[in-house]
Amino acid sequence: MNQLEQLNQIVADLDLELDQINDLQTLQQKKALYLGKKGPLSQVMASMRDLSVEEKKEVGKESNRIKGILETKFEEKRKAIEEAVIAKKLESEKIDVTLPGVNMRVGGIHPLTQTVMELEDLYVGMGYTVAEGPEVETDEMCFEKLNLPKGHPARDMQDTFYINPELLLRSQTSPVQVRTMGEKKGEPIKIICPGKVYRRDADDATHSHQFIQCEGLVLGENITMADLKGALLEMARKMFDKDREIRLRPSFFPFTEPSVEVDVSCGLCGGKGCPTCKGSGWIEVLGAGMVNDNVLRMSGYDPTKIQGFAFGIGVERITMLKHKIDDIRNFYTNDVRFLDQFKEVK
Ligand code: DAH
Repeated sequence: MNQLEQLNQIVADLDLELDQINDLQTLQQKKALYLGKKGPLSQVMASMRDLSVEEKKEVGKESNRIKGILETKFEEKRKAIEEAVIAKKLESEKIDVTLPGVNMRVGGIHPLTQTVMELEDLYVGMGYTVAEGPEVETDEMCFEKLNLPKGHPARDMQDTFYINPELLLRSQTSPVQVRTMGEKKGEPIKIICPGKVYRRDADDATHSHQFIQCEGLVLGENITMADLKGALLEMARKMFDKDREIRLRPSFFPFTEPSVEVDVSCGLCGGKGCPTCKGSGWIEVLGAGMVNDNVLRMSGYDPTKIQGFAFGIGVERITMLKHKIDDIRNFYTNDVRFLDQFKEVK
């Protein structure tokens, strides 16, 4: 092989070698080898000594050209490797923005909780505070101190889950009245007590073994039934609409005297009478009354100085009337098609 052929051979060799290289470090080493002092190009140059002046000129020129070609090839390969690295990185970090996103379901506040929150808002606005008590209650708090001694026939109105003869799942929120009276020791009281209660009832469209009540108790000097009526009329107008009327009917509860059943005028017929109110124009919503003197005395209050009223709202009942729900069981079966209707954010 003469020098010119050798020069062409160097390019051919390099082409083959470059094909195998795909990292910058190896490429750098190859470049140092090919273009360095001991590289094939330098060797061809060194072997020019014996050539004629003409040939030296020609081979020298060709060497320079080949050197340029080698440098270009190394540079192109360097770029190609760098681009491949970037392309690979891009590929691995690719985000497909056309994929549909993951839909986050937003929950909502349960309709019964919404009613409790509305009641709290309303009564706190009228100066009441919110009191709570245990759901596992003593017979003493739930019945005896509410003027329902053991064996009293009115106990039959509330069939209860007993844990033992002295402990039970509270059948009403009224024991929170007793607890608060015990704490306040004769001082005035203005509370509402929302909470769960339990009764040994068979579940059907209007009964549930567990439900929510919101008790109210106001004790002070010169509290009358007019105050009770005002507190409940406000509630009816806030929970339903501003044109509602209420009516008090005589009733019986052992812990109040006199006791009343409170009706709200029917929102469907405006009080004229329709199937929903069974033709009467009124719908019963809660029980209430002036706190019985015995109840006051048993908790250390002097009925000649301090008296007041109490009421017990059925939270399910009010919520059902408000939203025209016909089966109480809808509240507890967690069917999202039902619950979704009460979501503020759909
Ligand atoms: N505790 C009664 C019940 O569950 C409701 C009730 C009636 C509560 C009259 C009261 C009241 O505080 O004064 O049936």
